[in-house]
Parts: sequence; C-alpha cells; structure tokens
Amino acid sequence: MKLANKVRVAVLSGGCSAEHEVSLRSAANVMQFLDSSRFEIIPIGIDKQGKWFLDNMPNLGDDHPIWHTFDVIFPVVHGTLCEDGTLQGLLELTNLPYVGCGVLASAIGMDKDVSKRLAMGAGIPVAPYLVIKQDQWQRDADSFSQQVMEKLAYPVFVKPANTGSSIGITKVKTPAQLKAAINEAFRFDVKVLVEKALNVIEIELAALESLENSDPIISVVGEIRPRHEFYSYEAKYTDENGAELLIPAPITNELKEKARAIAREIFLVLECEGMARVDLFIEKETQQIYFNEINTIPGFTQISMYPKLMEASGISYSQLLTHLIDLAMKRHTRKRELIRSYV
Ligand SMILES: Nc1ncnc2c1ncn2[C@@H]1O[C@H](COP(=O)(O)OP(=O)(O)O)[C@@H](O)[C@H]1O
Ligand SMILES: [Mg+2]
Repeated sequence: MKLANKVRVAVLSGGCSAEHEVSLRSAANVMQFLDSSRFEIIPIGIDKQGKWFLDNMPNLGDDHPIWHTFDVIFPVVHGTLCEDGTLQGLLELTNLPYVGCGVLASAIGMDKDVSKRLAMGAGIPVAPYLVIKQDQWQRDADSFSQQVMEKLAYPVFVKPANTGSSIGITKVKTPAQLKAAINEAFRFDVKVLVEKALNVIEIELAALESLENSDPIISVVGEIRPRHEFYSYEAKYTDENGAELLIPAPITNELKEKARAIAREIFLVLECEGMARVDLFIEKETQQIYFNEINTIPGFTQISMYPKLMEASGISYSQLLTHLIDLAMKRHTRKRELIRSYV
C-alpha cells in the first residue's frame, strides 16, 4: 500500500557481480539517509545467482509484476551486469525512472578501454596501454609480451577491461610475471589492458548532474593514499587502514582547478547522467594529470569517497540522494515527451 504522498523508492542491492558485498554496505547506507519525510523505501535484493527478492521473498515472477508498485528505482549495485548498462537496459524497459547513468554511459564507463579512447579523443591524457583479446592471447602470447616490453616497459598494471574494486588486477614488475597476471585477468573478462605503471598521486572527484542546466556540479578534490603497493581490493575493503582519504587533497589550487575541469569534461564526453566519480592520476615527476577511470555507480558506504566529496562541497548525504531521485524523475518526464513512432 502506498503511504500518503510519499515517493516509493525501490533500492536495488547485491547483484551478481564480484562487488556484491560492497553493494550491500552501500545500500544499507542509502536506505538510512533517504529522506523519510519524502520517500518510502522498498528494498530489493539481488542474489549472486541473479534472483530478485522483495522483502526477502523470491516473489518476482517472470514478468516482474512488482515494477508497478513503486515510483522510482535506485540501483545501488556495482560491477558486471549492474553498472555496465545491462541493468540500465532492463530498467529502461520497465518505463520507470531510475537513478544514475543510462545505458550508454554505463556501458562506456565500465569499459576501461573504450572510456580511455573517448578521453583521449577529447585531448585528456591517459597512461600508455595496450589491449589484448583472449583469442589473440591464446594464439600469440609471445609477440604480445614482446610489445609490452618495447612499448610500455616495466612495471605495468594488468587489468580486466570490465571489472571494478581492483578485482583481477596485478602490478607486474618483471617480464617473467606477465603471463600469470594476464591469465588471471582473463578469468574475469575477455579483454585485458596492460598499462604502464606511473608514479602517481591518486585523486578522485564527484560529479553530479545539475537540475537546472547541462553544467555538472563538480566537487572538491579528494586524494587516496593507499598504504599497500597500490589501491588493491585489500586496501579498499578488507584492511581497515588500507588507505587514507584526504579531503580536500593537499595539492596546489592550480592542480585542483585543472582536475575539476578534466572531471567536468569527462562527465560530458562519456555522456554521463545523474552521477559519476571521476578518478584521476597526477604524475609526481611531471604534475601531468591523467584520466584513470570513471565509476557510474560509485560506492555509497559510510566511508566512500563520492558522498564524502559531495558533503565537503556543501551537499549533505540526504540532499544528494534527493537530488539524484529528482534527476531521475526529471529525465523520465522528458523522455516520455519524446516521439517514439512516426507516421
Ligand atoms: N597506470 C597505473 N599507474 C599507477 N597505478 C595504477 C595504474 N593503474 C592502476 N593503478 C593502481 O591500481 C588501482 C586500481 O586500478 P583501476 O584502474 O582504478 O581499477 P578499478 O576499477 O578496479 O578500481 C588504482 O587505484 C591504482 O592504485
Ligand atoms: Mg579504481
């Protein structure tokens, strides 16, 4: 039953990705901070097999009848099949408003290769990298290894093209370790990136679509200082002291403004809607800023960078969630006005 005048928000959590557990923590936080005077919360869990649960009951039939019992969907799920455009495609088909990027930006944002190509097209530097597909690797591992040596030099980072949370990523220091790292990355994706390891400061910025115009709101700059060799899964989630978050980042004002301009450009070039966290590198020796990656459904846990950056920029956790839902409703209204048939 609908509570009087409240917007019914379905909060999706879990998901069949490697980031299932992170999502549960993010969603718990989102539900805690959603403005209860305006919103009624309907939690929906997705288990690791992809089954959807309403109120802990697996009562979603083949035609998902519950789509009709709420007003807006807030996906708080990360990674494959959640953040990569597939879920967004399903949500488009429900014809209900949903929070965050649409199909296109979600899919682009998830692919570390395609998003970098678009950034380069806009003149934004990225760390030099090579791409290898699985069949190519199986056919000719040796010549690819040779190319890594000649074009990138060691150390390098080996990454699956479409994961998050540092899953499947290895820092490789010598040629002898390359094969194992690439094979490991191919467990998670059919496309792998091998990237030159830069000596960097890692910074992150939160971007939020404006309700007024096409100019996104860009947060202050935050810095991540991993206490591990790099910002690995352990540093992110299992080691409580794995990384230090500094807000604002202790960098010069000039670098801050450059980083904010790049984050804004990335949000627009990748066709983002709603929100995104833009992760950049500052090369220590040159002060050059590089685009690393974008996260279209950033972490929303108590210690996550995205809500913290927004808070430091004057937008509280609750205000942020309300803003995101208002954006979803606005986009939906506009899309419904579009002509879908032409006679
Ligand atoms: N080219 C690089 N140079 C230096 N460090 C890197 C590079 N690529 C990745 N890293 C390190 O690995 C971490 C995870 O890589 P990233 O591409 O951000 O993947 P994920 O999507 O899993 O977060 C980064 O936060 C950083 O610590
Ligand atoms: Mg990252």
